[in-house]
Amino acid sequence: MILLNPLLGIKEYVEWLEERELLVRVKEPLSPILEIPYFLRKVMYSSGPAVLFESVKGFEGWRVCGNLFPSVFTISSALGINSFEEISERLISLITHQQAQGITEKIKAFSDASKLLGYFPKKVNKAEFEEKVIEGKDNPLDKIPFFKTWPMDGGRYATFPMVITKDPAKGIINMGVYRVMIVNGRKGIIHWQVHKRGAMAYSVTKEMKAKEMPVAIIIGSDPGTMISAVSPVPYPIDKMLFAGMVRGRGVELFELDNGIPVPSNSEIVIEGSVRVDELASEGPFGDHWGYYDTPTEMYPVFTVERVYMRENPIYYGSVTGLPPLEDAVMGKIVEKMFKPFIKLLLPEVVDISYPVYGIFQGMVVVSIKKRYPGQAKKVMNALWGLAQSSLTKIVIVVDEDIDVNNLDKVIWAVSSNVEPQRDVVVIPYTHTDALDPASISHSYGGKLGIDATRKLPEENFGREWPKIVEDDKNVKEKIDPLVEKLLKSFKGLDRF
Ligand SMILES: Cc1cc2nc3c(=O)[nH]c(=O)nc-3n(C[C@H](O)[C@H](O)[C@H](O)COP(=O)(O)O)c2cc1C
Repeated sequence: MILLNPLLGIKEYVEWLEERELLVRVKEPLSPILEIPYFLRKVMYSSGPAVLFESVKGFEGWRVCGNLFPSVFTISSALGINSFEEISERLISLITHQQAQGITEKIKAFSDASKLLGYFPKKVNKAEFEEKVIEGKDNPLDKIPFFKTWPMDGGRYATFPMVITKDPAKGIINMGVYRVMIVNGRKGIIHWQVHKRGAMAYSVTKEMKAKEMPVAIIIGSDPGTMISAVSPVPYPIDKMLFAGMVRGRGVELFELDNGIPVPSNSEIVIEGSVRVDELASEGPFGDHWGYYDTPTEMYPVFTVERVYMRENPIYYGSVTGLPPLEDAVMGKIVEKMFKPFIKLLLPEVVDISYPVYGIFQGMVVVSIKKRYPGQAKKVMNALWGLAQSSLTKIVIVVDEDIDVNNLDKVIWAVSSNVEPQRDVVVIPYTHTDALDPASISHSYGGKLGIDATRKLPEENFGREWPKIVEDDKNVKEKIDPLVEKLLKSFKGLDRF
């Protein structure tokens, strides 16, 4: 397998996709206002590939790409890994190898520790994005083909901006994707939700009585860095270090004049700041719940100092809406990457799945190996207390024999194992995902837990749980081949 060099940026990733027939080119001039976003959704709903728009109406010299996360397999191939679980296992194995006994184990532990050094960011003094610079006074945001993704959106948006901040107290770097509404050529509104690290750094800035906070927004990088930006890496882990682990190689960082380090392979870099006293209302915006998120909260206004970009830039925009779109693929990657961490903290967890139509913050199904009464509720509470998993509205817990990705089996477990008075937990009046369209008020509502495990006698008024039906082994061995032979040429009925 030919890997993608993580040091290269979005242009090389686009080429890599094209070489593998995972990208189509569109020559027809299309507008970033509704047309390109609709096109990208249509392709995604049709199970299509990534798209490169070679001609962008109103933005001469630009190209636009989208659907860069067409499938989980595409990204694992680009990163040269067999599964995303490998990434967190890189860190976990390091922790567990500390008790290495024999010489071979000790050598392995040493080699793993040396690998970790390779994941740390490196400073560089040159970056290709320095090729072109537009000063803030020249209204650079007007010159970038930001999308308007839905007819009733409040304006044009940067839909995959990687917003980089520095925690003002400890200097720890964060990089999160928070949509930015374009106000004019120099200003945008950053929608970092209250639970996210960008918002946290902003609160600390205010607490420290500073007047403004430096921010950089980058658009387009290598896929490992981009997926890290949407990953819920808990504070105080440095996001750039995490990105190094995802890429298998440390991120090369170029420090801007405002002190914010940005990946040197960025396609577009917007340098600027937010003032603590400059807030504005943003939206509506058609988000990943499939509803318009209406303006209720005030968010900080970002002022551009200057914009850097590579020659003949490619703008990357993501589109949200009813699932499954590109963000559903990103969500699945994040689920796979963080599963080993969840299993480390909650050893009873066998598997975990955030169903695509559950919008990730809406629902999770988790299977456990239950040993003691009440354990399913312990797991619910733990997930509601754990970093961004705490935003999940509905937690369904099943036994280890239920495949969490088989929703039919999950429905069977919920229907047959749940006694509502005993097995349903409602937590009223707590924090919710900021975009949840059903919440009582902004970021505030309830949680639902469903214990769909089979109950132990202690949980079942002393009664044993009934036995699951199982076939007689001898009968099965005799009959199976007979039925298989008989039905060999039978097409199968569409039964329901
Ligand atoms: C396409 C896309 C758009 C997103 N937009 C937002 C947003 O506007 N605001 C937000 O707080 N999170 C948004 N997210 C989710 C964050 O990127 C995600 O929660 C990430 O973990 C944030 O980084 P942080 O945990 O370091 O704060 C978006 C995710 C994707 C995939």
